[in-house]
Amino acid sequence: MFRISIFEFRIFGLRGGDAMGRKKISIIGAGFVGATAAHWAAEKELGDVVIVDIIEGMPQGKALDLFQAGPIEGFDARVTGSNAFEDTKNSDVVIVTSGVPRKPGMSREDLLETNKKIIESVVAQVVAKSPDTILILVTNPLDTMTYLAVKKSGLPKQRVLGMAGILDTARFRAFIAMELGVSVEDIQALLLGGHGDEMVPLPRYTTVSGIPLSQLLPKEAIDRLVDRTRKGGGEIVSLLKTGSAFYAPGAAAVQMAEAILKDKKRILPCCVYLDGEYGLKDICFGVPVKLGSKGIESIIQIDLNEEEKKLVAKSAESVKKSISELKL
Ligand code: NAI
Repeated sequence: MFRISIFEFRIFGLRGGDAMGRKKISIIGAGFVGATAAHWAAEKELGDVVIVDIIEGMPQGKALDLFQAGPIEGFDARVTGSNAFEDTKNSDVVIVTSGVPRKPGMSREDLLETNKKIIESVVAQVVAKSPDTILILVTNPLDTMTYLAVKKSGLPKQRVLGMAGILDTARFRAFIAMELGVSVEDIQALLLGGHGDEMVPLPRYTTVSGIPLSQLLPKEAIDRLVDRTRKGGGEIVSLLKTGSAFYAPGAAAVQMAEAILKDKKRILPCCVYLDGEYGLKDICFGVPVKLGSKGIESIIQIDLNEEEKKLVAKSAESVKKSISELKL
């Protein structure tokens, strides 16, 4: 019995992504999105999960509770909670969810001032402990916070990305499935642009088991679903009244982490720094990218018609305006 304890002690003493050959995912902000992301990441056994928050005891309590779900659900991921960035040391991926969410009547832009301070401080502390990590930003206003992280982290632009497009396309896919009465699994969709009400869902690039959406739904129905997608975040905020969506956002951030940790080379819409792609420069914006162990391995440029180009330009304009409010 005594010998087993020592053995266990040694194993746990060695733990940490690198020493055990296990991946390490840190999640900053243990609120609704952060805790939900931790849940998906642990359940998928992506690696060991560290949750950090400024509230004392809260990340520790949630982590212990989640770890105790392992014996029931049969996942083997060590989950720990902390108030210290020291514990995020040598993370392979860091998901940043710290910051205030919106309440009914608020736009994502209303969060800028408060979340700017939080992101600046969090990113500096994360990078100090994990200079080789890949950062996934979730905090809103998403494109602007991702831009801030690109500028302040000092990390190569391939290793800083924001989560929005996966969530927004998932909403579009869910609405299409509901409308057609078919499985969500069969719907593939694409979307470009900022994570605001001017995002650009692309019905022309949307299919149901390979069948173009335009062959299954009339234009009026597609327009209605596009509109509902654009306002999809707000719809949930007005239902919840005290905060914003978290199940799908948590799952979306973890899908990005999984693509990176498993070097899957998935093609996913993510918010990334553009340097001339799509005719846009010095902006973080949602576009399809190839995600693998190096982070953003390439940016995929698709053909757009005149109307789509106009919508992309309009979305880019509002992201640029938000970025200018950072006053960097
Ligand atoms: P929440 O309020 O439940 O959690 C945020 C947590 O961050 C809190 O527990 C707070 O204590 C913590 N925090 C604040 N400052 C911190 C710091 N300096 N270090 C560590 N932790 C800190 O909010 P929720 O619902 O989890 O949303 C988090 C953010 O994600 C919001 O800005 C929200 O707008 C955004 N969001 C973005 C989405 C997207 O598509 N990109 C989707 C859903 C939410």
